Formats: sequence, structure tokens, C-alpha cells
Amino acid sequence: MEFSVKSGNPEKQRTACLIIGVSQPRKLSRAGKQIDQLSGGQLSTIIRRGDMDGKLGQTLVLHHVPGCLADRLMLVGLGKDKDMNERNFQKVLDAVYEAQSNIGAMEAYSYLTDTHVKGRDLGWKIRQTVMSMEKNRYHFDRLKSKKEDPPKSLRKLVMNVPSRRDLGAGERAIKQGLAISSGVNLARDLGNLPGNICTPGYLADEATRLQKTFPTIVTDVLEEKDMKKLGMGALLSVAAGSEQPAKLITMEYHGGDSTDKPIVLVGKGVTFDSGGISIKPGQAMDEMKFDMCGAASVFGVLSAVADMQLPINVVGIVPATENLPDGKATKPGDIVTSLSGQTIEILNTDAEGRLILCDALSYAEKFDPDVVIDIATLTGACIVALGRNPSAVLGNHSPLVNDLIGAGRKIDDKVWELPLWDEYQDQLKSNFADMANIGGREAGTITAACFLSRFTKKYKWAHLDIAGTAWISGDNKGATGRPVPLLMQYIFDRIEER
Ligand code: BES
Ligand code: MN
Ligand code: ZN
Repeated sequence: MEFSVKSGNPEKQRTACLIIGVSQPRKLSRAGKQIDQLSGGQLSTIIRRGDMDGKLGQTLVLHHVPGCLADRLMLVGLGKDKDMNERNFQKVLDAVYEAQSNIGAMEAYSYLTDTHVKGRDLGWKIRQTVMSMEKNRYHFDRLKSKKEDPPKSLRKLVMNVPSRRDLGAGERAIKQGLAISSGVNLARDLGNLPGNICTPGYLADEATRLQKTFPTIVTDVLEEKDMKKLGMGALLSVAAGSEQPAKLITMEYHGGDSTDKPIVLVGKGVTFDSGGISIKPGQAMDEMKFDMCGAASVFGVLSAVADMQLPINVVGIVPATENLPDGKATKPGDIVTSLSGQTIEILNTDAEGRLILCDALSYAEKFDPDVVIDIATLTGACIVALGRNPSAVLGNHSPLVNDLIGAGRKIDDKVWELPLWDEYQDQLKSNFADMANIGGREAGTITAACFLSRFTKKYKWAHLDIAGTAWISGDNKGATGRPVPLLMQYIFDRIEER
């Protein structure tokens, strides 16, 4: 979809659809008032008759409004002014998308950018609008033999800015919104692909494709024999039961100075998690194809960052494998030696994410990272603790954790901190090895992070558990692309702070 910004009077816009806000109770926005005047009070008459109260998300399409050059006018309810916040602005945008898909307009001109959203500037509103339209337009039908008819929808959206001075900021916001959306879409596509297509090898090929598209990305893939040589016993123990060879994928993006230490992102890439010998119950097991959504977010961020040619260095590391039962599979009680040299007693083969991450996190040291952020659908316990709204964040460096919390708020891809206190480390005690790979029933998300913390002592590190946020179950089952927006905002903030 095409987006642009423009500054001008609503009545002068030749467009298929002029989009204008109405807040509660029955209050026209500034642009609405302008049209109302020129139309001899037609809009206020309609509002007075009760056809548009301004209720959040309500829409009403009008034709032949005198005094304006637009083919149609879409009134959109904004709710009460005092309630207008990030979430409600999002709901307004969703309603606009829905209403637009029911009319014939191919392009529109929106004055919703004039809406006051507490604490958010024009650039934010423009960026959110772009991301919202792109999110709503997304569909995944590449594996259906008959493609669904695409819903009628906008091809072009012009967003109003108050003055010509704002055009530059508006255009930057559009670029950001489009780049983040393309990253989100890539992450959603990879997540939605089934386990028989999106294998570790497929992810490795995806990395090669990124390198071909963006000369600023250099990809490297370690095979199982390379990992064996390095001593990645933990990662390889998860791959032991699978016919698909595991891959350790790294993608280096160079946009900053060669002396700038990189942001390193490590994404869990379990392309299917059956639980292994500690096999999972059958219900909703198909959703374990989404167990590579952490990896998918790393691909999404790398491609968005390269697309925008951001002046920063980012490294993506993706340990990719399946977790399956087999005669060769790792068994409960087996003890393996990780790349760090620490030994691990595997008491449950379904706690496999931490096993592949710990070796990838040790491997990350070689990039001399500024910070390391890992992203993983790591624990069902995370959904019990926090539900499906925020991702969990835990880390060993509170400024980094706080930066992530702040970035998440800004872009509405929220994270909430859980305590990574030493007290919890005791739960990982093993009688036979340096540690066990599970910490018992209690505080499962925290003990998983405690496990990882033993491999991240040499750098600033944060862990994002996205078990509750990476995909949606039920009728609208599908990957969300989270936390690509959060990570992109974090990167923008980092660039800006310099
Ligand atoms: N991939 C799962 C976590 C998961 C489960 C994410 C359901 C989203 C929805 C992970 O590998 C896993 O199986 N974790 C176990 C850990 C346990 C054995 C300590 C879990 O959460 O049950
Ligand atoms: Mn598992
Ligand atoms: Zn898993």
C-alpha cells in the first residue's frame, strides 16, 4: 500500500474518501467543522439526528456532501477525548480499515492524524497508521490451492499534517512504519509456515536470501559437524532425535562504524517442538510449529534494519533445530556438555529452548557485543504468569531492561519485567551435573531465565519470553510478528540517543 503526507484544507481534497473524526459526545474534529460550515451544517445535522455519536470505532459513510470535492466522507467515532490513548487510537484505525474494506474507494485522505493522543506526536500517529493498515492487510494464503479474493481495500492513503513544515517528519514516519511492517510480515510468514516446509534448512536458506537482497548483510551457517567441533553439546542434544540437520545461522548487518559494538539478537529457532522423549500431549501440538517465532523476529529485524540502512551494527544468531523423539533422541537423565564447558542434566527434553539458546549465547561472545537480547517462545509458564498481552523481560542489566520496557510502551508492543533474583537459582540444582535444565513447577519463566543467565555473564543481556505474544490461537490462529516492533523501536531509540 502507498502512503503519503500532505498539508491542506479538507474541502479542497479531491479524493475518493475523506476520513474525519468525531469524538463523544457528538463533537466534530477541526476538519469536520470546516466541512460542516461549507456544507451548510450538513454534518452537524446528521450528528444531531443521532446517526453518529462519536462512539469509539463507529463509522458512517456519506455521499454528496456539499462544499467538498471528495466523492465520499467517512466519519469515524473517536470516543471521549479524555480517553484517547494509544490503544484507542489503534482501535480507531482498525475500524477504519474494516469500514474501508466495505466500500469501493481505492484511495483516501485521512484527517485522523489531527487527533490528540496523550503524549504522542504526529510522527507516532503517522507511523502507527501505516503499521495498522499493513497489519490488517496481511494474509497468508500461499499454501491454499485457490487464492482467496483479496478484500476490497485501499491502495493509497494520504495523511494530513498541520503544516508544510511537518512534511519531512511525516515522510520519515512513513518510512519507519513501512520498514517495521515489512519486518513484521516476514516474521509472520516464517512463523505461519508449517514445520514440514520451514525446517532448519529453510531458515538457513532464508538467511542466504537476505544476504542476496541486502549486500550489507553477511550470512554464515554452521553445520552439525562444525557445532560438534566447537563443543555445542547442548544444542546438538536437542537435534539428536531429528532427521533434519540442525543449523546455527548468523547474519551480520554492518551499518555503523567498524568500531561500534553490535547489538546481538539471538532467536530460538525450534521449527517444531514435540517435546522430544518427554513428549507433549496432542492438544494444539500443531502450534509448536510457532516455536521458531523468536528466530522469525530476528529475521524480521535484520531485514528491516538493512532495508532502512540504519547506521548501527546488528548481529542475528539463530540456533535452528527440531525437537523430536527417536531412538537416537536425548533421554531424560542424559548429561551433556555445553559450549561454555558447563555440564547440564537434561531432566525434561521438552525444556529444549534453553539448551539451544545457551550454546548460541556463548557463541555470541565472539561478536564482542554491546548488548545481547535473546527472543524465545520459552515457557508455557509465561502465559500463566502474564497472559497474552505483554512479553516477559528478564536480564542482568537494568538500563537495558528499562530501555526495552520503554520502547515497548512507545510502539505498543509491551514487555513486563519478572525478577531474575539469585534466590531462584537454587531450583536448578542437579545431583549429577553443574545444573539441571528444569527448575520445577514454580516460577517456570524465571528459572528458565536463570538457566540462561549462567551463559551470559560476560555481557549486558536481556531475555524476552514471547510464549504468550508470538502467535494467536483460535479462529484467527497465526503469527503476530511480535516483538519486531519492540526491537525496532529499541534500535531507533539507540540510534537517536547518540
Ligand atoms: N516451546 C515450549 C514453550 C511453550 C509452550 C510456548 C506452549 C508456548 C506455548 C517450550 O519448549 C517448552 O516446552 N517448555 C516447557 C518447559 C518445562 C518442561 C520446564 C513448558 O513450558 O512446559
Ligand atoms: Mn519444549
Ligand atoms: Zn520449545
